Amino acid sequence: MDFEQEVAPRLIAAGHKIRDEFTERFLALKAAGSKEAFSPLLGFGSREQDLGPAGYDPKAPIKFAYQVKGAVVTVRRYLPYFAGVKRGFEIGVGAGYLMRSLIDVHGIAMRGCDIDIKRLGVYRAIRAELGLTDLVTEQRIEPRRPVVLPPDTEAVVGFLPAWTAKWDLEDYQWFHTDLKRQRVRRMFWQMNANIDKPEIRAYFDSIGETPVSEDNRRFVIVDL
Ligand SMILES: C[S@@+](CC[C@H](N)C(=O)[O-])C[C@H]1O[C@@H](n2cnc3c(N)ncnc32)[C@H](O)[C@@H]1O
Repeated sequence: MDFEQEVAPRLIAAGHKIRDEFTERFLALKAAGSKEAFSPLLGFGSREQDLGPAGYDPKAPIKFAYQVKGAVVTVRRYLPYFAGVKRGFEIGVGAGYLMRSLIDVHGIAMRGCDIDIKRLGVYRAIRAELGLTDLVTEQRIEPRRPVVLPPDTEAVVGFLPAWTAKWDLEDYQWFHTDLKRQRVRRMFWQMNANIDKPEIRAYFDSIGETPVSEDNRRFVIVDL
């Protein structure tokens, strides 16, 4: 399937539909003085004082519905590097823009995990729009605990991995050794700028390729 003609418009339509529906519900609940307005089900943030100029907490999940065009730019940039992968597993799928594109453009048999699947309403709703609900299961990644993978997973994908914020170098080494034990051959990673510590960066530089120079080495491919 062609990314520009078919996939990107579908991602944008899904994000904007959820943006509009959720904004209407959020504003109605807020106007009624209901605490539900600040529930994770809606994903606008947990407190009125955190709402930014756009009307939501800039760190809250609803940003993935408002900023879907930015997500499309990211996917477009990295998608070519996934050619040839047959079976993949994505950790922290979120809205699922990347997962939908990997399936549609490269025909990759994708599965993935996320946390609080029932509570985090924005991610759940966008994934449902994109037809990904049944491909994503609940699994919380913890340091030094094996990721449960479907059989024959060839590649593991992690984009903006919030879950590694407190990992040290040994945690990453443990994780990579364990993926290798599970016969994963390749890892595709987009470093989260907020948590990208120098020693972790140096480690990734020593074991992986960073093929996209203009993005300040945030995208890493590791052959395990
Ligand atoms: C910053 S979002 C990125 C989403 C998506 N990968 C992207 O690039 O747009 C982080 C995602 O990781 C999930 N997550 C957070 N902690 C996790 C954990 N310990 N295990 C698995 N997923 C986690 C969140 O629910 C969210 O979907």
